[in-house]
Amino acid sequence: MDWPGRHVISIEDFSRDDILHILQTAAELEAHPQPNLLAGCLMATLFFEPSTRTRLSFEAAMSKLGGQIIGFSSAASTSAKKGESLADTIRMAEQYADVLVMRHPRDGSARLASQVSNSPIINGGDGANQHPTQTFLDLYTIAKLFPDRLTHDGPPLAITFAGDLRYGRTVHSLLTALSNFNVRLYTVAPRGLEMPAHHLSRAAERGVIVETLPTLHEAVQLTDVLYMTRLQEERFPDPVEFEHVKATYRINAEMLERAQSHMRLLHPLPRVNEIAQDVDATAHAHYFPQAGNGVPVRQALLGLVLGRL
Ligand code: CP
Repeated sequence: MDWPGRHVISIEDFSRDDILHILQTAAELEAHPQPNLLAGCLMATLFFEPSTRTRLSFEAAMSKLGGQIIGFSSAASTSAKKGESLADTIRMAEQYADVLVMRHPRDGSARLASQVSNSPIINGGDGANQHPTQTFLDLYTIAKLFPDRLTHDGPPLAITFAGDLRYGRTVHSLLTALSNFNVRLYTVAPRGLEMPAHHLSRAAERGVIVETLPTLHEAVQLTDVLYMTRLQEERFPDPVEFEHVKATYRINAEMLERAQSHMRLLHPLPRVNEIAQDVDATAHAHYFPQAGNGVPVRQALLGLVLGRL
C-alpha cells in the first residue's frame, strides 16, 4: 500500500515489511536529521484523553522536521463539551491540518475518524483497543537493543509481557506485531487480567506460542526483554484485591540481580507502583530511552504519511 495519505489506525493494517520500513526510516532520520522535511505542513493533535509522551513526542517530531502544530489536550476545552460529534470535529480539523493525531477514550474512534477524514489520521490510542505508534516505538527499541535478533533465524528473542494484559492496549498491539518475528513470548498477569484468548489465538495462527509464567521471578531469569505494564486500578471490582496485587506485583533492584546481564526492562509508562525507583539506576532499566525513541519513530510516520519520504 502507498504511504502518502495512509491512516495509522491498527497494527493489524501493517505487514511485516511495512513495520520494517518504518523502523528503517526512523533509524535513518535519527542518524541523519532532516530539519526541513515537513516545512509547510501542519499537524493537529486532538487529544480527548490525557497524555504526556504520545502528544509531546508527536509535537517534538513535527517540530524537529520543520512542521507546525495546532491542537488541544483535553476534550473539556473543545466544542465536544457542547455536544459536537467526533465526526464533525474531525471534518473541521481536516480543514485546518494536513495530518491529525488523535487520542480518544472510545474503542474504534480512530477507525471512525479515518472514515470521514481526507487527511491521514494517526491513532494515538483509542480506549482499550489499539496504540499502534507505541508498538512501532517498542519494536524500534527492541531492534536497537538486539540488532538483527527479531529477523534472524537463530535462537528466538525471549520477551515477557507482565501486568494488566487484559485491558492494556499496548500489549495487545505489541503481541500482534511481534508475531511477525523470531520471538518466544511469555506472560505473567494477576488473575483476571490475563491476555485475552483471541490475541493468543491470533499469535498461534502465526506460529508464535505464548507461554504463561507463574511469577515475575521466573520472568526475570529467563527473558531478554521484560515488558511491564501498569495495573489499572479502575478495572478491579474489589479494592482489597487491588491492594494485595499492587503490593505483590512490583519489581525492584534486588529481584533484578537474577536477570541475565543483557536483560532490559521496558514499560510504555506512566509507571505507578510496579517498578520501584531503585530499578532506575540499574543497567536493566530502559523505559526512559524507550520513550525517547518515540520521536524518530513518529518522525518516520509523519514523513511517510505526508508523502515527504
Ligand atoms: N505511553 C503512552 O502512551 O504514554 P502517554 O499516555 O503519556 O501518552
